[in-house]
Amino acid sequence: MPELSDIYFATTNTNKFNEVKDILSNYDIKVKMVELDLLEIQSNDLEVIAMDKAKDACRKLNARVIIEDDGLFIASLKGFPGPYSSFVFKTIGNEGIIQLMKSYSDRTATFRSVIAYCEPNNITLTFVSNVNGEISAEISGKGWGYDPVFIPNDSAQLTYAELGSKKNESSHRKLALEKFAHWIKNHRY
Ligand code: IMP
Repeated sequence: MPELSDIYFATTNTNKFNEVKDILSNYDIKVKMVELDLLEIQSNDLEVIAMDKAKDACRKLNARVIIEDDGLFIASLKGFPGPYSSFVFKTIGNEGIIQLMKSYSDRTATFRSVIAYCEPNNITLTFVSNVNGEISAEISGKGWGYDPVFIPNDSAQLTYAELGSKKNESSHRKLALEKFAHWIKNHRY
């Protein structure tokens, strides 16, 4: 039975949860992973999708819940895959992204994290952060999702995958969770 003091992180992605748990532990915030079957609305706006999912999770669990939606926005593809990042990863994957990018000289891209936090009293907030970088010319390093193809700026040309645990020091997820941690420390603890 969920307790009011608990904060749940709703995801089916253990890689993501492990990063979230490590990042939030630096702010003395504990989260529990929960797998929920959540409704996902169609929208071009990650914040709208995340808000809606967080409300659904909150309703289903009747507890404080965080959910995260991410998107990789590639400039020369006019922001694609953006809100479709999950579908694109499952279909063409990193090999497909590398192939697509062969026709473009501009390889710049942005990774965006939207953290949506919901309480059973209906308060829902989002915390958004972006990291700018570029798409690598080849798959580099072993990591989950787009980690082997995303090179954040100021990383000496290393992909997220090659950065290993250092990724958590400055990733899109870290920056969004930092905003959330500051908010919750100021308003709830
Ligand atoms: P979702 O919002 O978690 O579904 O993320 C959209 C897509 O981006 C999925 O394919 C994830 O695997 C991928 N993704 C999300 N965050 C990261 C990350 O930190 N590194 C690499 N891929 C990610």
